[in-house]
Amino acid sequence: MENFNFYSPTFFAFGKGREADCGTLVRRFGGSKVLIHYGGGSVVRSGLLDRVKESLNEAQLPFVELGGVQPNPRSGLVYEGIDLCKKEKVDFILAVGGGSTIDSSKAIAAGVVYEGDFWDFYQGKWIEEALPVGTVLTIAAAGSEGSPDSVITNEDGMIKRGASGDAIRPKFSVLNPELTETLPAYQTACGITDIIAHLYERYLTNTKDVEVTDRLIESLILTMKTEAPKVMNNLEDYEARANIMWAGMVAHNNIVGVGRSQDWTSHQIEHELSALYDCAHGAGLAVTMPAVFIYNLKHDVMRFAQIAVRVWGCQMDFANPENTAREGIKALQDFLISIGMPKNFEELGAKEEDIEQLAYTCCYGKGNEGGTIGGFVPLIQKDVEAIYRLML
Ligand code: NZQ
Ligand code: ZN
Repeated sequence: MENFNFYSPTFFAFGKGREADCGTLVRRFGGSKVLIHYGGGSVVRSGLLDRVKESLNEAQLPFVELGGVQPNPRSGLVYEGIDLCKKEKVDFILAVGGGSTIDSSKAIAAGVVYEGDFWDFYQGKWIEEALPVGTVLTIAAAGSEGSPDSVITNEDGMIKRGASGDAIRPKFSVLNPELTETLPAYQTACGITDIIAHLYERYLTNTKDVEVTDRLIESLILTMKTEAPKVMNNLEDYEARANIMWAGMVAHNNIVGVGRSQDWTSHQIEHELSALYDCAHGAGLAVTMPAVFIYNLKHDVMRFAQIAVRVWGCQMDFANPENTAREGIKALQDFLISIGMPKNFEELGAKEEDIEQLAYTCCYGKGNEGGTIGGFVPLIQKDVEAIYRLML
């Protein structure tokens, strides 16, 4: 195991009705004027936004609002949010929604206290300082409710990039699984896929002897394997939603990724797809992951075989472990298809003729001039092109 720091100071308020605690929590973490940031309207329709406002009113907290965050959140609204916060002297940002809303909130929070262009952070500058952010999560997926990351698409070129810093870890996150019951089946499945991807990205490591994190990751994927069908059969299954919601947080606040190298190839390759075609991140990952894993299989056959046996119930073929490894990847893909995820470029709405450009932007795009991606196997543009071709 490698040396590591782990700092995860987010306060989690989990369970039914916990959004009623928003006002108290904002006060507890020092807020006195709030920006409520939200998405395209699901929180208005569900009545959640009104409940959040009620809670802020009870705590006598003045607030302003900014809605309209799109999935794959855009830089334009971030600039608008930064201006609004400065004008209104906002000192706390409350994200009410999914990963996109939370990421947009984190970008605003970092941008308000920074003299330069907030996009600097998405080109590699570490975020040292930000306004405090709180979240009320409405979809189990991105894990942004407990992560130090934010992913934004710059409308200038439609470049999707991530930024990080402990300063943008939420001060608190309200996780009420009931709030996810209004999610359509497709979005639910996209979220489940993203959670599984966050686990695989960490599982694919070159660090030896990381049994504790290996086992934690395996147990979380096993949990998704049992809980996902329950929730797909009954979108209002509270207990399944609750397990998935907590798994989504644990999968991505990095407690299962410490002390080991990590991969993130699938995410980097997927981000180009959701930037260009505006597909859901989870749907993009469902198509990307099997292709990446097949391409990288020979780098460490036993790692893929291990997860095949321990998670997907495959029998170890000791004479030829590569068979087991392939079976495990197939089992993952079958599982994703069974919950309604796409399996190829066409189903995703991606186009073969864009492959060269996608691979180029992935390896050399703004903010990523190094030319290689991937922590498990370093890949160059021609590898990335070959992976996109496996998705056809
Ligand atoms: O905008 P509204 O109207 O709220 O609708 C949203 C949106 O259309 C809808 N939705 C959310 N909660 C709902 C609901 N509809 C009905 N009932 C509810 N309870 O779902 C749609 C998707 O929302 P979004 O916030 O985009 O989903 P998600 O949480 O999957 O976030 C995706 C974004 O997170 C980034 C992705 O790249 C993508 O841009 N990621 C962020 C990470 C991080 N910050 O740590 C890590 C991830 O790997 C990921 O890259
Ligand atoms: Zn993700």
